[in-house]
Amino acid sequence: MNKTFLLGNNIINDFPQLHAKCYNEQLSYLDNAATTQKPKHVINKITDVYTKYCANIHRSIHYLSEIATQEYEDTRHIVANFINAEDSSEIIFTKGTTEAINLVAFSYGLKYITHKDEIIISEMEHHSNIVPWQILCQQTGAILKIAPIDDNGDIILQKYFNLLNKKTKLVALNHISNTLGTINPIKEMILAAKTMGAKTLIDGAQAPLHINIDVKNLNCDFYTFSSHKMLGPTGVGVLYGNKNLLSIMSPYQSGGNMIEKVELYKSTYVNYPFKFESGTPNIAGVIGFKEAILYLDTIGLNNIINYEQHMLKIATSALKTIKNLTIIGTSKNKISILSFILNNIHPHDISSILDRKGIAIRAGHLCTQPIMKHFNISSVCRISLTFYNTIQEIYNCVNALQQVKEVMCVK
Ligand code: ALA
Repeated sequence: MNKTFLLGNNIINDFPQLHAKCYNEQLSYLDNAATTQKPKHVINKITDVYTKYCANIHRSIHYLSEIATQEYEDTRHIVANFINAEDSSEIIFTKGTTEAINLVAFSYGLKYITHKDEIIISEMEHHSNIVPWQILCQQTGAILKIAPIDDNGDIILQKYFNLLNKKTKLVALNHISNTLGTINPIKEMILAAKTMGAKTLIDGAQAPLHINIDVKNLNCDFYTFSSHKMLGPTGVGVLYGNKNLLSIMSPYQSGGNMIEKVELYKSTYVNYPFKFESGTPNIAGVIGFKEAILYLDTIGLNNIINYEQHMLKIATSALKTIKNLTIIGTSKNKISILSFILNNIHPHDISSILDRKGIAIRAGHLCTQPIMKHFNISSVCRISLTFYNTIQEIYNCVNALQQVKEVMCVK
């Protein structure tokens, strides 16, 4: 049988949190774009680290440290394979996507971007792919340019192409919008940027659980993502960097583990990736992340993609049955993220009423205030689905939304 149809309820036992009751109601977790639940494989692995080989890595020469170091470095290889990087040394562990973007902004940007240069982002970026570039521009005098979106939530490609010129030093774009769900045509956008000689950073925070990532094929210079949005622990992120750039970048933070030789007035540093990993990292988190990728492999990314696309169709049709509900983000090429507004009811009210029924969604500006401005709204509700959600949960949520209208006395 097609494995796609064995997802949903059939794998719920892998996720202990999904059995929880909230206010005596069965939890329905529809907030996967904020963070995913963790399979027991990941949870057990983290317990293993703290009960079987709790030690610091890359330093001590003893049994426990060697196991921990090996497991940590195995993760680097597995992550490199997962995104088809050329070499595992191009994988740098950070505490999340945000830190990975900041690392590039300040290690690469401060050194190589000047007042003569331009940086392009889009109108649909998460704040974490806006603010670091604003600060970099303030510090260097570089100009920030914005590729606009249309009312479906797609980047207007021609306007993006028109922004590119020989002064463009860096293009920073999200792969998938956390609010609109849009999958951007980044391969085409990267190629256009490269033609002008610009470097490219892709914020892939929303991507790895929902589409295939191949950094060689994309030909991007930097790619960033977080473990916690793909079944792994919080506090672990990845910066993939092209080795030619990593080798000329300065350290982001400094201290132990990143040095070659320290004298009282000067120091030299080791090469990447360790040049960018000062201090004791999130050892258990990184090792738990490995288990998340291994688990994902057993489910099969293509099965997840098929299942989520099926769920997206059902959820979109079901939401459209609700009068006065407007979906924000209607790109033809999107993942199973459904943001919406309903009458004039405040999204926080909707989310609170659903919460009392055990249904967890997200509401607010979703760290994308420029998108809110584009659609002339202050906030949205967002349902974000993944492979352990079920069709029944979608229908329960739609019924609950109809009840919200009754409670709020709107039609
Ligand atoms: N960026 C995360 C979200 O979209 C937290 O919810």
